[in-house]
Amino acid sequence: MSRFLNRFRRAGKLLTEVDPNRLPKHVGIIMDGNGRWAKKRGLPRSAGHRAGAQVIKTITEFAGNMGIPYITAYAFSTENWKRPKEEVDALMQLLLEYLRDKEQIAGRDIKIRIIGDRSALSDEINAEIDAVHEYTKDRTGTTLYMAINYGGRQEIVQAVQDLCRKAQAGSLNPDELTEDAISERVYTEHVPDVDLIIRPSGELRLSNFLLWQSAYSEFWFSDINWPDFTTRDFTQAILDYQNRDRRFGGR
Ligand code: FPP
Repeated sequence: MSRFLNRFRRAGKLLTEVDPNRLPKHVGIIMDGNGRWAKKRGLPRSAGHRAGAQVIKTITEFAGNMGIPYITAYAFSTENWKRPKEEVDALMQLLLEYLRDKEQIAGRDIKIRIIGDRSALSDEINAEIDAVHEYTKDRTGTTLYMAINYGGRQEIVQAVQDLCRKAQAGSLNPDELTEDAISERVYTEHVPDVDLIIRPSGELRLSNFLLWQSAYSEFWFSDINWPDFTTRDFTQAILDYQNRDRRFGGR
């Protein structure tokens, strides 16, 4: 623990206030505000995304050391294709570099899973995704689900389509089309529902992120742009989460 505290000094004393027995199992992060961060500095938007990619590495490692088993990060939505081609291309290039950076990934006990509709991604990216999945598959630390070409509604539709096909083929009774059956078929599979969703940059919306998994999530918003988000901010989010009274509809 002291090595961990030393390493992440920025989180400082706050970290000692975290109750290790009441950590969220699954944290979702909407990495927003990269464009504004870059604009403030007179840099291209791609510089903001690049800085944001570094931050998710740090935060995942930090969360892993804390003992949080699952992180889902929203990197590219099904709606982000509407952005100018040069921004989309820069994001895809960044993704490629991120996936190829096996040393970074290898140095940490982090399992990487890319979730979303992979059919629109290039063969080159898909090959790297397969390679990273294979490379990290036996890791037992935190799993990072990186959502690329991801949409919450689309995720639910594909899960239901899958079940309908089974029903049509006669291998599923429609009564078995239950909440659990859908939970097993969304991209995050057997992972617990998301406990806490963090959205920086001042926006107060879900933007089609983890719609199915967020039925009882807590939310943590802040005005910080994602590239400025620190381990201290993450620690504060966890502390605030631990002070919430989660009743799941009960009393
Ligand atoms: C939203 O901020 C952010 C995105 C659309 C992209 C997020 C992606 C990253 C942080 C890089 C992730 C890593 C990989 C591996 C691809 P915005 O650009 O909409 O910012 P703005 O609202 O300030 O304009």
